[in-house]
Amino acid sequence: MRFFKPPPSPAIATVVLSLLMLLAPYLNLQFIYLQHHWRLAPKGVYGDTAMVVSAHGLASDIGRDVLAAGGNAFDAAVAVNFALAVVYQQAGNIGGGGFMVYRLADGQTGALDFREKAPLAADKNMYLDAEGEVIKGLSLAGHLAVGVPGSVAGMVALHEKFGTLPWDVLVRPSIYLADEGFELSEKAARMFNRYQADFARLNRHQPIVVRDQKWRAGERLAFPDLAQTLSRIAKFGHDGFYAGETARLLVDEMRAGGGLITQADLNAYQAVWRQPVRFDYRGHKIISMPPPSSGGLALAQLLQGASAYDVAALGHNSAAHIHLMTELQRRTYADRATHLGDTDFVDVDMAGLMAADYIAARNADIVPDRKTDSKTIRPGLVNVIESVETTHFSIIDPMGNAVAITTTLNGNYGAKVVVKGAGFFLNNEMDDFSIKPGYANQFGLVGDDKNAIAPAKRMLSSMTPTIVEKDGRLKLVVGTPGGATIITSVFQTISNIIDFNMSAQQAVHARKSHSQWQPDFVMLEKGTLNIGNMIGLMRRGHQPYSWPHFTYALGRVEAILVHPDGRLEGAADYSRGFDDRASGF
Ligand code: DON
Repeated sequence: MRFFKPPPSPAIATVVLSLLMLLAPYLNLQFIYLQHHWRLAPKGVYGDTAMVVSAHGLASDIGRDVLAAGGNAFDAAVAVNFALAVVYQQAGNIGGGGFMVYRLADGQTGALDFREKAPLAADKNMYLDAEGEVIKGLSLAGHLAVGVPGSVAGMVALHEKFGTLPWDVLVRPSIYLADEGFELSEKAARMFNRYQADFARLNRHQPIVVRDQKWRAGERLAFPDLAQTLSRIAKFGHDGFYAGETARLLVDEMRAGGGLITQADLNAYQAVWRQPVRFDYRGHKIISMPPPSSGGLALAQLLQGASAYDVAALGHNSAAHIHLMTELQRRTYADRATHLGDTDFVDVDMAGLMAADYIAARNADIVPDRKTDSKTIRPGLVNVIESVETTHFSIIDPMGNAVAITTTLNGNYGAKVVVKGAGFFLNNEMDDFSIKPGYANQFGLVGDDKNAIAPAKRMLSSMTPTIVEKDGRLKLVVGTPGGATIITSVFQTISNIIDFNMSAQQAVHARKSHSQWQPDFVMLEKGTLNIGNMIGLMRRGHQPYSWPHFTYALGRVEAILVHPDGRLEGAADYSRGFDDRASGF
């Protein structure tokens, strides 16, 4: 399923919207205001010293228990990550990859890149036919869509550097969950049911989730093969995945299904420690993910761009506010498409893209009453040196260490391929490359040479695990899934807290808008497109569009806010009936 669908024909949309504009004076706007106000009312979960926020209550509780047992945020991260790989298989994973941004209690910060890599046998044109046209679906489903997984290497690397509890103790809860089984939530059952046909079509064997009757909420489901794989990881660490039995099963799966990953790819895979992107926003220090994620640089352009305006004075989600967000976003995404890629392979002028005068010049033609056409926006001129499922969790431990991890298989259940005998899903991250210049990926994102496929290269990401500090003290740990909308969701969550003084839960649940240069329209989360801002946006020349994919929505933010009195507010996005939960003490 494509995550990102274009709106209905502009002609129909224009007629419908014009009719609504005519009717506006006769409609009851009070209802919309109350609905909006109600959304902002909820409060998060409060804790005095420790908090874990993730996409599944079982995983959050396991993380909390690790912290209660004296483990630190990194120990908890390992336990949460593996637990999500069992209870939240559409995105939690050992067959995918991700990023971590951390801040130690003493203020040191860093980033870990465990993003997937293109296999050594990958080729720039591997998804094109003889005429140079994209073969639809090849980068999205099945064995050829799979990048070399990085998650286990990432967990091992962060544990080696910062872990305090024994590795196998941290993997054990997930082995237990996979072995004994756990109750499916309504969402989990529905998701397994939705993809039955794909699972059956894309696997040569029958994965445990494929069966004739529908899965029902409350049923207990165990994953014995996955439990065995996790046991090998518990026992052998890195080699429990990249060597021995698990590696053999993975390479066999690739060979049988026509995939490219070999033992040489697995031998070569290493997670990489990187310097995070750091910048200021209205007296706060923002620490975020550098390339191969676009998240940190894009966030720097957006927030530094926003700092030139009195955002709060515009009124949250007013037409003027959404207009400004949109104008900032379309310029940022134009740069993303052109200038960003894996810095181990291509040069990215990070300092240039984040420079205050560059951002000011880029935004100089923003006017309050008229949109800029995407056609007239070109990527900015910086120093070009030639040479839809994810999951986020946030953790703060009693010592004051903070961890933000976003990890993914890319689409729901990734390539929908389960490794026979090993019981885990493989990613379809290869679609995040620019598989042909200008060709939109499943999130509608375009790209060029910098993000072209090359052997062992990492595909550009939007994942934006982020930490905010104020006056040298930790203030916020935040991140989200959402494909292209990750960056805009993190941007607006931070702005909601800093500019609009919202609580963490209010900021997480507040409805968001999104635009990404191409396609040239503004998406608003359900409940945001009221008559007032619709008229305001259309008057400015925008084409507003209510986001229809409620399962994904614009982000599913998991945040922890440190309040001025030191209390922690954990805010999970449960607004659409998700299983996300904050758990702390
Ligand atoms: O790395 C990226 O940007 C994408 N693979 C993330 C995919 C995603 O967030 C899908 N989730 N809703």
